[in-house]
Amino acid sequence: MSQYKNDVNKILEDLENHIQGFSYGTSPKELYEPISYIMSLGGKRIRPLLTLLAYSLYREDYQEILTPAMAVEVFHNFTLMHDDIMDNAPLRRGKATVHEKWNANTAILSGDVMLVRAYDMLLDIEPKLLPICMALFNQTAAEVCEGQQHDMNFENMGTVSEAAYIDMIRQKTAVLLGFALEFGAILAGAPPTDAKKLYEFGVNIGIGFQLKDDLLDVYADKEKFGKQVGGDIISNKKTFLLLKAKELATGDQNTALENWINAKEFDKEQKVQAVTEIYDQIGIKNLTESKMKEYFDKGFAQYASINVPNQYAYQVLLKLTQDLVNREK
Ligand code: IPE
Ligand code: IPE
Ligand code: MG
Ligand code: MG
Ligand code: MG
Repeated sequence: MSQYKNDVNKILEDLENHIQGFSYGTSPKELYEPISYIMSLGGKRIRPLLTLLAYSLYREDYQEILTPAMAVEVFHNFTLMHDDIMDNAPLRRGKATVHEKWNANTAILSGDVMLVRAYDMLLDIEPKLLPICMALFNQTAAEVCEGQQHDMNFENMGTVSEAAYIDMIRQKTAVLLGFALEFGAILAGAPPTDAKKLYEFGVNIGIGFQLKDDLLDVYADKEKFGKQVGGDIISNKKTFLLLKAKELATGDQNTALENWINAKEFDKEQKVQAVTEIYDQIGIKNLTESKMKEYFDKGFAQYASINVPNQYAYQVLLKLTQDLVNREK
């Protein structure tokens, strides 16, 4: 295994031990069990890793910030728990979603307490850095909610411009990756111009990350993906794939696509299969991949403009983010 993988795995192991050692609370168990459940299902842990690796660009002692880094992951998992209710999603990380295994009320309240626990973890930040970090976190968290509301609004809209779509995914997904990086840099005492560049880098790869998520929702290998394949098609999500298809479909394709979108009652599998076929005919996968690469490349160019003291750590973070382009889950 490459040295890079070894390093990332070591950090991941420390992070995971930290996460699994944390108690969110015990009673009533109906409130806390779903939290342990979702947090123990794993996931890629990308956001806290970004925080720890951004910190490592400037300092060696990342163990000092495991708790604030974990706050970002707990916040992310809170958004997933609520997102799965909103998206009617049956599966998360290969297991039943919390609202399916328990019920929606449980997922709402457990999610709420996760947000509170994320704030608890942020209290671990050095007092002189706390106000600036808190302000950035709050700005980010509100933007995630704004993006999520746009995402829901878009489901019922005829069409959405590419610009509006990109802005929606910037809010719901990308700003949190940007924050994760900037946060690590601030905690390490990095120059503010570096911290801002890292934020922009994170936002751009975050947009690429959501484009990839939209792609995987249609084209992933179900076993590896861990989420329902085709969920976005079933719910008429205005993903980049659907927007492009609406723009480029002609004649019969267009009629068929509109019929599936407007159908009130339908067989889910049939809809997923039919819409995927239309995507295939138009070449939507390639178009989405190009758009995704565009944003990743923009991010990498920004990253390249930062001068960090530790060149090795620089490469580790670069490699981790490059690997997101070809991820399968
Ligand atoms: C899923 O995030 C939600 C999106 C913003 C696309 P991840 O793909 O990071 O999910 P996990 O945490 O690895 O399961
Ligand atoms: C979710 O986007 C973004 C947030 C959770 C804020 P998606 O709805 O596409 O994420 P998945 O696909 O369910 O993980
Ligand atoms: Mg969603
Ligand atoms: Mg979802
Ligand atoms: Mg998705």
